[in-house]
Amino acid sequence: MVHEESALEKRLQQWCCNRFLLGVQQVLEVVLNMKTISREEAIALYKQYNDSESLFRHALSVEAVMRRFAVELHENPEFWAIVGILHDIDYGLYPAEHLKHAPRMLEDAGISSDVIHAVVSHGWGICSEVEPVHIMEKVLYTIDELTGLVTATALMRPSKSVMDLSVSSVKKKWKTKGFSAGVDRDLIAKGAILLNMELDKVIELTIDGMRSVAKEIGLG
Ligand SMILES: [Fe+2]
Repeated sequence: MVHEESALEKRLQQWCCNRFLLGVQQVLEVVLNMKTISREEAIALYKQYNDSESLFRHALSVEAVMRRFAVELHENPEFWAIVGILHDIDYGLYPAEHLKHAPRMLEDAGISSDVIHAVVSHGWGICSEVEPVHIMEKVLYTIDELTGLVTATALMRPSKSVMDLSVSSVKKKWKTKGFSAGVDRDLIAKGAILLNMELDKVIELTIDGMRSVAKEIGLG
């Protein structure tokens, strides 16, 4: 009986030890994944497949907004920024097959699976069946289209700048259905609900993020 108990104890200890090691391994994987690619490397990878200046400005806009939201939500801005840069990596070469080629391109470059999942989930319901789950994915899903509306609204202003752009100006254009008709307002509203954030706050943070790179995106 004593012998049986100690064998059971041993197995329990081994199980606990294995669980602990697995936990450590998972944490290490996350930390290491977050450091596998620098901003410069992400931009170089993006440019390997895209040569359009306007698409690159969009990538920089999304990067800046991802950073802004990460700060707001006390997350990792550097990691979120990388996702922002890479999110449309296959659009330049395959606009009609958007997000179908992104996983291969990113896997070939050794990009971690969490980045790939985030990239693919931003087209949820449009060109992807992958649902945004992580908070970072929900932000990307929400703000991708919104940066387009903010850009178009800013370009209508005499200043052609985001620096003096208000939330109410964007909301006014939001209600004008013929304006930037390609921007899916319902998707953005759905994203705000997913984020449990007021639409005005989402717009405010998006404008704020884009202001931080106003010159680089041609809206200074
Ligand atoms: Fe995009």
